[in-house]
Amino acid sequence: MGVIDGRVAIITGGARGIGASISRLFAREGASLVINDLGGAPDGSGGDEGPAKQIADEIAAAGGRAVADGGDIGNVATGERLVRTAVEHYGKLDIVVNVAGILRDRMIFNLPEQDWDEVIRVHLKGHYSTVRPASAPLFSSLGEYPEAAQSAASAAGWTGPPAAATGSRPAASPAAAPAAR
Ligand SMILES: NC(=O)c1ccc[n+]([C@@H]2O[C@H](COP(=O)([O-])OP(=O)(O)OC[C@H]3O[C@@H](n4cnc5c(N)ncnc54)[C@H](O)[C@@H]3O)[C@@H](O)[C@H]2O)c1
Repeated sequence: MGVIDGRVAIITGGARGIGASISRLFAREGASLVINDLGGAPDGSGGDEGPAKQIADEIAAAGGRAVADGGDIGNVATGERLVRTAVEHYGKLDIVVNVAGILRDRMIFNLPEQDWDEVIRVHLKGHYSTVRPASAPLFSSLGEYPEAAQSAASAAGWTGPPAAATGSRPAASPAAAPAAR
């Protein structure tokens, strides 16, 4: 029996590099996966569904469960789709691992604004894209798995800073967030 047997995880950037290692490890340890990867060049240009499909097939061939998604995680619609896919395929969501990232290797003095914006879009908005729609299902799974993991948010991410705009009560459930829109 694996250490995360029966859990459901989304892994962004899950087809190559660090993300691929996490995908294989999670599958080996019993998790059912939604693997997102744009399959582009290291600088984020282009896109190819092949890498995501390839690792999902590899995991399925080894007896695991994985669904592939080749979307751009910098688009909020992609994160929403990943959460929907997890819930539709597996009935719940327990873990989100945000690994998707790009490299625009520059020093600050020769960093064009366009490169800055693209890195921020993939790395920061890419986290928002998954974490916001995932917050309600993740909170639902906290009862079953109190140690449910999420890469981007620390424990402070769940409770918010003292007297934040959401109110000073700790641990307000984001399940209520959609109603507050
Ligand atoms: N490799 C390192 O030493 C290192 C160290 C610290 C942090 N990191 C960070 O860890 C992350 C992964 O690093 P890596 O070395 O495995 O990189 P990698 O380039 O091997 O893998 C990143 C994956 O993310 C995917 N991706 C890129 N943009 C995407 C998007 N918009 N939507 C969905 N998928 C997208 C790529 O297609 C790629 O498969 C990066 O964010 C990187 O900045 C890496």
